[in-house]
Amino acid sequence: MKTALVIGGAGYVGSHAAKAFALDGWRVVVFDNLSAGFRAAVRWGDLIVGELADQEALRDAVAAARPDVVAHFAALTSVGDSVGDPVAYYRNNVAGTLNLLDAVRSQARCPVIFSSTAAVYGVPTQSPIPEDHPKQPINPYGHSKLMMEQVLADCDAAHGVRSVCLRYFNAAGADPDGEIGERHNPETHLIPLVLRAARDPDFAFSIFGGDFSTPDGTCVRDYVHVSDLARAHVAAAGYLLAGGASTALNLGSGSGASVLEIIGAIESELGRAMPRNVGPRRAGDPPALVAAAGKALDVLGWRTDYDLKDIVATAAAWERKVCQT
Ligand code: UFG
Repeated sequence: MKTALVIGGAGYVGSHAAKAFALDGWRVVVFDNLSAGFRAAVRWGDLIVGELADQEALRDAVAAARPDVVAHFAALTSVGDSVGDPVAYYRNNVAGTLNLLDAVRSQARCPVIFSSTAAVYGVPTQSPIPEDHPKQPINPYGHSKLMMEQVLADCDAAHGVRSVCLRYFNAAGADPDGEIGERHNPETHLIPLVLRAARDPDFAFSIFGGDFSTPDGTCVRDYVHVSDLARAHVAAAGYLLAGGASTALNLGSGSGASVLEIIGAIESELGRAMPRNVGPRRAGDPPALVAAAGKALDVLGWRTDYDLKDIVATAAAWERKVCQT
């Protein structure tokens, strides 16, 4: 049985990946500090509670788990917060990942799957965005992820530690079995916020800008189901174990949806109309981010199984479950 060490496996994407690995027959060990993740989300493996800042704990965890692959999800992920507190972002996302790579290099020398982001592209000059598009992040979060992509490439050259960097577009939806889902505190993501506004008329939700250069004036994003993202990690692990070369891949559906289209999809799911309050733009939001999805298909045989309707339906089911407990 192969072992996946899942760093940040109590969080949103990490917990779904832990489930996907387990269902594929892997032994799973989760390392997480539970700062943003939940103990209850660790259902498919042992949990080691520890900090990325703690080099000794990381070395011990890698030595004890003896992983065949390390999947690294643990990161601060709010673009807005990264602008206000860049040092925290670089400390966690860069210094923390360096600690992890030290531990991998000294204890396991196994390949690494790294959670990267569409934010590495900055404001794209073409759409859909291919992987070789210029990387010009416009916030510390995107910079922190791009720096680590570079470090991983260098670690391959220096130490033979191969890696797949997976550039997520907009992770959304919840486990179709309802076992895990999205829980951020505070929540900043569109779909959970619209679902909350649908349930609570006093909850102030506004559309961040209606004057973008998009068909309906609202921002367009490539929403990809979290279980599809999770499955890509299992595919990336298989690719690396078969000797695949280090690479970076977009994870998106290849088609975009506007904020108004998301609200419309949620209205259809819930059977209820919602107000459309258009407020000012949020700083740093590019008009459109849509993945060119062909490379992940070529390299991993991966494509999305779930569509926007599935994303909204599973997110709504999870929201109902969380609200009832
Ligand atoms: N939006 C609103 N109102 C809200 C919240 C969001 O209109 O209250 C809009 C945003 O302006 C954006 C879209 O909904 O156009 C999606 O916003 P999210 O905050 O859900 O997601 P982002 O696109 O900002 O962020 C995602 C990932 C980040 C990643 C980024 C890349 O969550 O990790 O894409 O740009 F860095």
